Amino acid sequence: MRVLVTGGCGFIGSHQVVALLDAGHDVVVLDDLSNSSLDAIDGVAAICGRPPEVIVGDVREPAVVRGALAGCDAVIHFAAKKHVPESTVLAREYHDVNVGGLLALIQAAAELGVYRLVYSSSGSVYGDGLDRPIPETTTPAPTNPYSRTKLMGEWILADLAAAEPQWEITALRYFNPAGAHPSGLIGEDPIGPPSNLLPILLDVAERRAATVTIAGDDFATPDGTGVRDYVHVMDVADAHLAALDRSAPGFRVLNIGRGVPTSVMDLLGAVERTVGRRLARRVGPRRPGDVAFLTADPTLAEEVLGLAAHRSLDRICADGWNRRLVARTDGDHERTEAG
Ligand SMILES: NC(=O)c1ccc[n+]([C@@H]2O[C@H](COP(=O)([O-])OP(=O)(O)OC[C@H]3O[C@@H](n4cnc5c(N)ncnc54)[C@H](O)[C@@H]3O)[C@@H](O)[C@H]2O)c1
Repeated sequence: MRVLVTGGCGFIGSHQVVALLDAGHDVVVLDDLSNSSLDAIDGVAAICGRPPEVIVGDVREPAVVRGALAGCDAVIHFAAKKHVPESTVLAREYHDVNVGGLLALIQAAAELGVYRLVYSSSGSVYGDGLDRPIPETTTPAPTNPYSRTKLMGEWILADLAAAEPQWEITALRYFNPAGAHPSGLIGEDPIGPPSNLLPILLDVAERRAATVTIAGDDFATPDGTGVRDYVHVMDVADAHLAALDRSAPGFRVLNIGRGVPTSVMDLLGAVERTVGRRLARRVGPRRPGDVAFLTADPTLAEEVLGLAAHRSLDRICADGWNRRLVARTDGDHERTEAG
């Protein structure tokens, strides 16, 4: 297949491009580089021995999206803004990029007859779900603008598939993707300070930041810190491949997680084991929009996709840390060459 990957220079998108190229597909990336750089594409090319085609542009621009979709058989839509606290102050921008971007994409896809779509949704649409772990039958109750944009995207796609039977749409609700490709040549490299917990911890391990601020220790969880479900980014990429391979008419929603509850303190401990030293920490206030407990019931996804996320928390931490070591070596190398 020829697959368009929007947001393909980003964290999950770049790992997805590797998985697609490795599986023998051709890939077109569309990314505006607002939270990534073309270094990710260099890493992808080094891993796979060939680069994807890359278009730098905005998914909200109809002509750009039509150009990117030309000749494609399927599209995986990652391009979005994703920082929960930021979405509470930049609500208009979040709706514009996340909902407006999706509308522009499906309009162009319909015009060009590209009806196979995988959509990046989020476990955060459940809000403070009472079910633990959370099956897809739990009624979503998002607690912040970011999560609402993701749920609105699902509703749009569900309506679309109901109205136009040619669509084959899978929405994957990822819980907490983390880690990196084992080569260390790509990873989670956002522009500016990271918003996800593992890169924040790795920043402290690398001494780029002095202290980890734990965002609240008074949640109703066993150790008081937020509980999440970390899933290796290559397991997330494998799930998309399976969603395309086993594509089916209509609209479906699947949880992508391991179903293993991991608190902030658990992840901190795992990173400390990986890097072999204690990380300085302090307790700060809760972040706006954060919930206490969010873990997936991945049973349905395992049945439908025929695979389970199998990479462990230690593997997630080891691959994330390896990415830092490789990036540092690359940086030293560039500085040596320049100097
Ligand atoms: N990382 C997570 O924890 C997580 C969890 C659940 C869902 N998701 C969803 O997965 C997707 C990918 O997340 P990620 O962690 O890789 O984020 P990311 O920020 O690393 O990647 C998103 C990419 O989209 C690009 N982009 C943003 N706006 C764009 C636009 N208007 N036009 C073109 N490109 C644009 C960015 O430059 C970036 O490369 C997002 O849709 C996010 O909501 C992520």
